[in-house]
Amino acid sequence: MNEQVHPASASAQALLTVRDLRTWFTLRKWGFLHAGTVHAVDGVSFDLARGEAVAIVGESGCGKSTLVRTLLGLDRPTEGEIVIEGESLGTMDAAALRRLRATVGYVQQDPYGALPPFMSISKILAEPLRIHGVSDRRERDRRIRAALEEVGLTPPDEFLEKFPHMLSGGQQQRVVIARALILEPALIVADEPVSMLDASVSVGILRLLRRIQHERALTLVFITHDLSTVRHFANRVFVMYAGRFVETGAVDDLLDTPQHPYTQALLAAIADPDPDNAGRERPVPGGEPPSLVRPPPGCRFHPRCPQVMAGLCDREEPPAFEPRRGQTSWCWLHR
Ligand SMILES: Nc1ncnc2c1ncn2[C@@H]1O[C@H](COP(=O)(O)OP(=O)(O)OP(=O)(O)O)[C@@H](O)[C@H]1O
Ligand SMILES: [Mg+2]
Repeated sequence: MNEQVHPASASAQALLTVRDLRTWFTLRKWGFLHAGTVHAVDGVSFDLARGEAVAIVGESGCGKSTLVRTLLGLDRPTEGEIVIEGESLGTMDAAALRRLRATVGYVQQDPYGALPPFMSISKILAEPLRIHGVSDRRERDRRIRAALEEVGLTPPDEFLEKFPHMLSGGQQQRVVIARALILEPALIVADEPVSMLDASVSVGILRLLRRIQHERALTLVFITHDLSTVRHFANRVFVMYAGRFVETGAVDDLLDTPQHPYTQALLAAIADPDPDNAGRERPVPGGEPPSLVRPPPGCRFHPRCPQVMAGLCDREEPPAFEPRRGQTSWCWLHR
């Protein structure tokens, strides 16, 4: 059974609990004929404690964005349960979903696309405050200035009346982060926050996220293609492949003693662990990720796995193996 539960990390302190989550998309030909189902997230479970930083890694198309979009209430889960701060996402009404948006800050990949082009920075940052009932203008102004200072856009007066296109990519991403923080969320979700920025700029953005996370004791979930930076910015890592987790664990355990052949292949593909090279594309293991319309039976990595065992890996779902507390690998090799 690929249950993907993490008993070691379950705690009464959990900010977020996800159980057997599936988010599927129906493909339609000519708008109505059923042409297949994309199993973008296909049976994922985990708990997040308050204050931890988790990196989700894996190749393009493995379901990372769909997973976090489902947590944000932007994609609808097909099955499973998401509980945030004790409240189930599935039973939330419109008001509860609004509260959820205040609990979770979202930092997208493309900062320019994320910012409305015809609004000034002060208007962009005022909007969530207004929507969430901060009606006093002076209070809004105070919080907008504080947010700009927190993300290093100082002095705030230099930025308030500017429009997004007048800022650099790094500055735009700082505005996106300020907007994500302005309602003082408990959780920040960042979807490849630096992949469109230059390497030197992206290290600054990652450091900023890490500092804010520490100072505010926030929970941070960030998606990255780049395993070489996660040691500096995460406590835990979830390795995703074809809609599922294949390995999860504390960052040092997972990077120093990876158990799953896919994690090992990802690590072997890192040419240069220098954090100054953050955000650079890396080669990925040989072969192609599988179709999520018809995922391979058994272990989803088996068609590319150098250690595949015929008759087992290609038939049966791999069991969970825990080499140490907090690290889990779903693989037949350790049976
Ligand atoms: N709204 C949608 N409708 C149909 N298919 C979708 C939709 N959103 C995502 N998908 C598909 O789901 C799969 C997972 O996509 P997702 O964007 O979650 O991957 P990802 O891991 O974030 O990839 P990347 O690293 O390229 O951002 C892909 O096959 C994608 O084409
Ligand atoms: Mg994505």
